[in-house]
Formats: sequence, structure tokens, C-alpha cells
Amino acid sequence: MSERKQFRAIKGTRDILPPDSGLWNWFEKTARDTFESYNFREIRLPIFEETSLFARSVGGETDIVSKEMYTFEDRAFGLEKPKRIGDVGDFITKVREAANSGQIPNDPSNRAEIETVEQLWRRFVSNDFELGSEEAGGLSPADQIHLMSRSAGDVRLGADISLRPEATASTMRAYIEHGMHALPGNVKLYYMGPMFRRERPQKGRYRQFYQIGAEVLGQSDAPAIDAEVIEMLMVFFQRVGLTRTTLYINSIGDKNCRPAYVELLRTELQKVKEQLGADSQRRIDTNPLRVLDSKIPNEQEIIAKLPRIADHLCDACKENYAGLKRELALRGIAYEENWRLVRGLDYYTRTTFEVIAEGLGSQNAVCGGGRYDGLVELLGGQPTKGIGFAIGSDRSILSIQESGNVPALPGLDVFVAWMGMDTYPTAVKIARTLREAGFDVELPGEEMKFKKLLNLADRLGARYALIIGSDEVASGTFTLKRLADADQKKLNESDLLETLTNERRGTRA
Ligand code: HAM
Repeated sequence: MSERKQFRAIKGTRDILPPDSGLWNWFEKTARDTFESYNFREIRLPIFEETSLFARSVGGETDIVSKEMYTFEDRAFGLEKPKRIGDVGDFITKVREAANSGQIPNDPSNRAEIETVEQLWRRFVSNDFELGSEEAGGLSPADQIHLMSRSAGDVRLGADISLRPEATASTMRAYIEHGMHALPGNVKLYYMGPMFRRERPQKGRYRQFYQIGAEVLGQSDAPAIDAEVIEMLMVFFQRVGLTRTTLYINSIGDKNCRPAYVELLRTELQKVKEQLGADSQRRIDTNPLRVLDSKIPNEQEIIAKLPRIADHLCDACKENYAGLKRELALRGIAYEENWRLVRGLDYYTRTTFEVIAEGLGSQNAVCGGGRYDGLVELLGGQPTKGIGFAIGSDRSILSIQESGNVPALPGLDVFVAWMGMDTYPTAVKIARTLREAGFDVELPGEEMKFKKLLNLADRLGARYALIIGSDEVASGTFTLKRLADADQKKLNESDLLETLTNERRGTRA
């Protein structure tokens, strides 16, 4: 007897069910409308990319890349590990060809693996199965086979790929791949979709979560661009009712001034190393800036006394940061400066920002972003300036729900309550007509008793029941019953459409 296993969504992933999915659609549509009003256009990106794209851009030492990515080996078409000893010769020929044509990694380590399998194979076929012979390196045939299959298993048969932990890297890859630098003006793109990070799941933190991001790429780093991006973000949050928020901004300098500041920070951190926890101690070597991010209570007093980047910016960065603050003031955008806002991704320069929402507990950042001049170049493109952000949809929607600011979204307009098979053709026809006129209509597929029909209409939350009985069919009319107050009218088709349309204007104005 087969085991009756109950499948559940994997920890850190979840299903978004109606009516929440309606709220999500509205949230995403509002983002589209807002971003497009600022002349941003959508880019749709793949869910997985080469692992090295993320390592190079987000940074190999970051938590995201070093611990949290879902990484696996792809499989080039038509290649598989040898199942029997007789397949090994053929396997070697195929992987050699695949490496030469770039279908599988042709780096020194993969070439060495292929070489090892080939050497073992040559020995194996030439030593005539002589137990412990010289040629076989003193190995029994069973040991040789074991070794060969282990080495064949180590040959990588496809690219090393990862589910995207974020989408800025993919956007840069696409920008370069499609020569988008040649497009007129700044290239303004937005995206939305799932991202994947192997984090410890908790409220507001998932392993599959959703972002809505926007990026501006071009030749200018004018602070007006940064401010407009931030304005667009705050206008969006306003529109979706996410108003109990704080915008934090900072400048983390650029390649001219940051290295000296990082060294100064490292020196100062060395002096207090013993008082810091293990993570911060490790970061003194790997990335001292990240120590500023620490939330550990007894590190706070020490961090408060560390040198601040604002006092160590070069003149160009200082002017750029002052410009950003002027531009935000011009737009009436309230912000707070936070010198400790360094962000957990390596690609940032100058402006960084984050938006925090109330009522979310520890996972309260609903958006993070910043400038990343030089990232396109780092990935092999032309020197390009860039800035962008990503909104965490899960957390933002959670915050809207918790604040009680959920909008009344349109639901089921009409439930067609037909009675008797002779009324059914009329019901089918009017359902189609109403749907074409833009109404949400439920048409039962089976005959039901009147009481049951009205009861179901009520439970489905329909605003109206459209009653069709033999009388109505005979007189060419419909009975429209408003379920909220049981108000009832007999109408012909054109009056019915007019009544419903007027009512919709009233409720959706
Ligand atoms: P990030 O700060 O890593 O930045 O992520 C942005 C937002 O995604 C966070 O503020 C948070 O709301 C949400 N988020 C991140 N991880 C999770 C998770 N495990 N569960 C739920 N929500 C999460 C970036 O990803 C950059 N690419 C942003 C950017 C775009 N910078 C420049 N352009």
C-alpha cells in the first residue's frame, strides 16, 4: 500500500491565495502605473543566471553569495555520467567536445577532472584486468572502476548556475548583452518577481520572496537622478497606503575616498576587536563597513564611537551628497541621515538608502537601494553610472495589512441565478454579455433550488443576484437583486447594463 504523504510548501516558501492575490495584483499594478509615469519600462529577466554573475557583482564575500544562494550544476544537452564501464570511452569523447565548444566549463579544474578520468580509463583498458599490475598503479580492477566513476562524477557537465538572489546583476548583464548603452537618454528599467535566498525564515523573511525593482543607467551621476528615483519610490508607497515609513539616506563614498576610510575603520576596529562578537571580528578582515550594520546590543556603544564616513568623503562625493539633499528638499521628501547605512551588497558607491516601515518587527526594511557606478564596467561593459532600488513586496504588503490600510478591491459583481433548464440559454447569453461589458460574473453550471442559489451568491460576496425564471424569459426581462439591502428591480437588457454601469461608476470612482 502506498504511503499517504501530505505535501506542504517548502519552509520559507508560501502560497499567495485569493483574496490576498488580489491585493498583490493591485500593489504590482500600482507600481507599474507609478513607474511608467516616470518613464520607466519593464524588463523581464530570467530566474537563474551563471553563479559567477552574482559573485562578481553582489560580492563573493557577502552573506547573500557565500551562504544564501540556491546553486546547482546545469546539464548540457545530451550529456550524462557513464552508467556502465563500457560508457566511459564515449563519455570522455563527448565531454572533451563539449568543453572545447564551451557547452560545459572549460576551466583548469574541469579540464583536470576530464584528464583524470581519461588516464584511469587508458590504464584500465590496457592492463588486461591483471590484479595489482604495475600499469594499474597497484589497484584492483574494482578499485579502478570505483575511482573512475568517482572522477567521472566530479566532471561538471554544465554551467554553475544560481536562482537569482536579486535582480540588479541580471539587469546589468542584460544591459551589456543587448548594447542598451546605445539607447537615447538614460535607460530606465523596472522589474518584478521572485528572488531566492536561503535565509532563516521568520515573519517578513522568506526563502522565496518578491521584489519590485527599478534601475537607471546612463552617463550621468547627477543627484537629481538619485532624488527622482527616491521620489518615485515614496510616491508609490504613498499611493499604496504605506505611509508609516522612514527614509534613511547615506553616502558611502567612491573608489577615491572609501579605501582610506575603510583602512581607518579597520585600524580603529582592531583596537576594540576583543569587545566585538565573532561575526564582527571576522568582518574586520573581510569587510569592515559591514560591522556598522551590526544589530548586536553590546556592540552599539563601540560602533557609535567609530569614525564616520561623512567626515572622510572626498570633495566630489561631498558635493554629490549635498546635491542629493538639496534635490530631496526641492521635492519635499522627508529623510533622515544614517551614517551606518552601508547595505549588504558590494556594488554600492556614494548614495545608499533604505525605507523602514513600522509594525514589522526586526525585518522592517521594505526597500533598499543605492548608486552603483562602475558595476557595468566590472561586468565587462562600458563605463556607466547607475542607481536603483528594490522594494520587498512581501513585507510592504504585510505592513499595509497590519496598518488596516487595505483598499476595498472590486469583487464579484453578478451571480446569475437561473431556475429551470428553459432559462439556461438566456443565462449563458447574459453572462457572456455582462463579462464583455467588464463585469465579474459567476454562472452556476448546474441547476439549483432558488434558496440555495441566493445563499451561494451571498457567500461568494456577490453584489447582485441576477434572477432568471420562466417569467423573466417570457417577458424578456431580468430581476436584479442587490444583496446588501434586497432592493429588487425588473429590467430589460439595456436597462440592466445601464444600471450596473452606473453603480460601478459610483463604487469605483
Ligand atoms: P536588498 O536590500 O538585498 O537589495 O533587498 C531589497 C529588499 O528586498 C529588502 O529591503 C527587503 O524588503 C526585501 N528582502 C530581501 N531579502 C528578503 C527576504 N529573505 N524575505 C523577504 N524580503 C526580503 C537588493 O536586492 C538590491 N538589488 C537593491 C538595489 C537595486 N540596489 C540597487 N538597485
